[in-house]
Order: sequence, then structure tokens, then C-alpha cells
Amino acid sequence: MSNLSHKNPPPPCAIVIFGASGDLTKRLIVPALYNLARTGLLPERLSLVGIGHSEKTSEQWRDDLRAFLEQVLAKTEQAIDENLWKAVSRHMTFLTGDFEKPETYTALDGLLSKIDEELGLDGNVLFYLATADHFFATIAGRLGEAGLVSSEAKGFRRLIVEKPFGHDLDSARALNKHLLKYLKEEQIYRIDHFLGKETVQNIMALRFANGLFEPIWNRDRIDHVQITVAESIGIETRGKFYEATGALRDMVPNHLFQLVAMTAMEPPVSFDAEDIRAKKAELFKAIHPLALTDVVRGQYDAGIVAGETARAYRAEDNVARDSTVETYTAMRLMIDNWRWAGVPFYLRTGKRLNIRSSEIAIRFKQAPYALFRDTPVDELDADWLILRIQPDEGIRLRFNAKRPGPSMTLESVSMKFNYKDYFHQAPAVGYETLIYDCLIGDATLFQRADQVESAWALVEPVLKGWANTTPRHFPNYAAGSEGPIAANDLLAKDGRSWRAIRILGGK
Ligand code: BG6
Repeated sequence: MSNLSHKNPPPPCAIVIFGASGDLTKRLIVPALYNLARTGLLPERLSLVGIGHSEKTSEQWRDDLRAFLEQVLAKTEQAIDENLWKAVSRHMTFLTGDFEKPETYTALDGLLSKIDEELGLDGNVLFYLATADHFFATIAGRLGEAGLVSSEAKGFRRLIVEKPFGHDLDSARALNKHLLKYLKEEQIYRIDHFLGKETVQNIMALRFANGLFEPIWNRDRIDHVQITVAESIGIETRGKFYEATGALRDMVPNHLFQLVAMTAMEPPVSFDAEDIRAKKAELFKAIHPLALTDVVRGQYDAGIVAGETARAYRAEDNVARDSTVETYTAMRLMIDNWRWAGVPFYLRTGKRLNIRSSEIAIRFKQAPYALFRDTPVDELDADWLILRIQPDEGIRLRFNAKRPGPSMTLESVSMKFNYKDYFHQAPAVGYETLIYDCLIGDATLFQRADQVESAWALVEPVLKGWANTTPRHFPNYAAGSEGPIAANDLLAKDGRSWRAIRILGGK
């Protein structure tokens, strides 16, 4: 995992982007390359090759990307810096081609050899699958057949695979098996963009670079953990994708489980990719497969989000009017190991909730009451450590303090650390570290085949159970609310309740 502040540029290489005109390329990949150029971390000799179905010239491709980058930068009131853009766009080639046809790969092979000869890229190529997921297997297979991803090639040959990696356990296994026919595991970089977030990477720093937290990071001191990834946006223009996916598949085996892994894994012996990935894999093994009774699903109705009316999920474009797809899910997860036995991890995520807010909240066990017999129990709050993932990135520690005055009256107060108060954060879209790490061959922030499969295995009973039962009360939460009542019942059964979904701001 790279701290980008003290790094050298990666070796020269070609980056071949499949899905070169797509949203991901425009919104994230190219802006991330531009931001890497800003920090001097783009390869000095770099060639971008785009492959897509559309008929366009390299100049048109470059102009499209530039126009989009300008829009991205305008959001943070920046104008394009010509030198940085030049560093990204100096060698850009668009190849029109059908992903399924071997000819495309023959042409690509010829093009890569020519570019390598001209620029001296030492044979290094990074293939980036930024396409719809149904192309992943085909493209990898065709690259393999054309000899383009041979581990014996002169330079490195790596493949970045975007999400979703499979649709369930069987399809994830099949995709892994297929990729591993053509590539070695160490050539494959499965992205989970949550791991590109500084706040997520910081969980390891918090836990393992401080003597303070790790000794209390266990079932002796922790009562439970709440992980929330709330979004206020709906499904935007992705109706078709979402109808085939739903909140569980879209967010849980990947993003939320990565947050669980960062929070709950055992300390690795080093920060080497393999050591960290081994600890994560162990953790996934210790999680109980989810039971249907431990999971709640919801779907949003019409409502008001941030003062604007929002339509119901069933009224969104490309969504069935009687859709039973969930846009919210909450669950209770148990981890069977010495550190966590008996400590529930409650997870929730949903679209069209009241606000965008992601956090990991660790609730410590309550102090014994004896000393504060006269304090009403509801005033004696337990201590919370809250890791704010986004927005208002930072960490809060909530604890009880004596309210000034003659009596021993307690009040919950908070100590806060805000990233923005301490660090100047260079503009970033969250893909910079991921792309850089892949270019230097550091796989720490990427998922290994077994991890992806164990994550799917954990949610498999729920996917199957839901496929066989129709949710009767959909839609069951209003857009702009904090989710369905059933999610509250899940915690109430254990005598607990969710924290409010809110931005903590300065407090
Ligand atoms: C994506 C999901 O993986 O993550 C989206 O497909 C979701 O549905 C997004 O909105 C959330 O990511 P972020 O970085 O905006 O919190």
C-alpha cells in the first residue's frame, strides 16, 4: 500500500483501457492519471491505448477525455494544467475493435510492439478492464490466446478487473478459474475502490501504528460495531444494472466486507501484500455465513431527499413497476474467533437515505453503574470511537464528562480529528493510489481470488433465500428516511439501536 508522498514514478509502460469511452474511464481513470501527473507519479514514458466499439480517431478520443476532465476539474474550480494534461495525453491511441473478435487482439499486439519500439516501454503493459462485467472473461481469454498476458513476456503484464467480480459464488469462481487459465494470480488486480479511500487505508494506521487502540480492540472491551454506508443518491441512470444487482450484491461482499476486514482482521506481521491478504482471508473464514433471519432488505418509496422530491425505486427508468429488488440492506454478522466471539457487527447500506454518510462506529462496553446510581441510565452513554469514512473524514471519540456544576451530572462529549485540519489533501478521485500501486506491482489494496470467493460464499444463503421469497412490504422506506423499520428491529432484538445517520460536522 503506497503512501504517495515519498514515491518515485513507476516504470515506463502502456496502459490499455478496454471501455475507453466509458464512464469509468472519463470520471475516474483519466482524472486519476492527471492527479498522478500532478504529484510526479506518472511513468515518465507512458502510452495510453483505448479500445472500444465506437469508430473514432485517436484525436477524437483525446479531445473527449480532455473535455470531460475539464468538467471534473471545474467541480473543484480548477482549470486544466496544460503540462499535466500533456504528460497524460502525449501518446494516446484509440483502436476501434470488437472485444470478442481475435482480430482486435492481433491489431493490439501489433500496435503495442510498435509503441514499445518507439517509446522504449520495456514490454510493460497494464490492461484495464473498464467495461461492463460480462466482457471480463472474453477479454481476458482473448488476451491470453493472443499471448498478450503471458507471464513470460519481456516486461510486466498485469490486468485490472473492475467490479462486479461475479454475481454470486458460482460466477465468481468461474471467472477466477477462467482468468487463472491465462494469468497468474499475481498478475491480476481485482479492484475494490473503497480500498482506495484514504480513510479506509487509515484504519490500519489507527489500529497498528498506535499502542493505544489494539489492546482494547476485542470482545473484552467492545460491545458491538456498526458499519454504515448510506447514500442519498438513487440509482441514477443505472436501472438496468441495478435491477440485476440490488444493494446486497452491489455493496456488501465487496465494499462493506472490506470495511469489516480492515476493522476486524488480526495484525499482519508486515505491510506486505501477502501478509495483509492472508489476515483478511483468515477473517473471512471466521465469519458465520449469513442466515436469512439476520438480514433485512428494503426498497425506497417516493419521498424528499435534501429538499427535493425523489421518486420511488419502482418509478425509476428501466425498473420494473413491481420490482422486488432491494435498494437497502442491513445485517448482523458474527465472527467466530478469539478476538470477536459474541461481538455483533451490524452493517447497513442503502440508496436514497437521508444523507450520504459512511462510518465505522465502535461501541465500547458500558462502565459499571455503581458510582453513578443517581444518573439516569439513558444519560450515561457508552463510549464510541467513530471512524468517519466520508464525507467529514476523520475520527471522533465520544465519552462521558462531568457537566460543570455542583452535582455529578454527566454528558457525552467528543474529541475530534478532522483530516482537513491536519493534512493538505491533494485533489484526488480515489483511484490514484490504486492505479499507482498496480503500476509498481503492489497488490495490498487488491482482492485475491480466495477473498472474493469467501465473500460471495458468506452472502450466498441470503441471495438464494431472497430469490425464493417475495418481499411482501416493498416499498418499505421513504426516500430521505434512515431506512426501513425492520432494520431497527434487527438491533432491537439484541437490545441495541442504530446510531442516527448524520454528518458529524465540527462536533
Ligand atoms: C459502487 C456502487 O461500487 O460504489 C454504487 O456500484 C455506489 O452503487 C458506489 O454508489 C459508492 O461509492 P462511493 O465511493 O461513491 O461511496
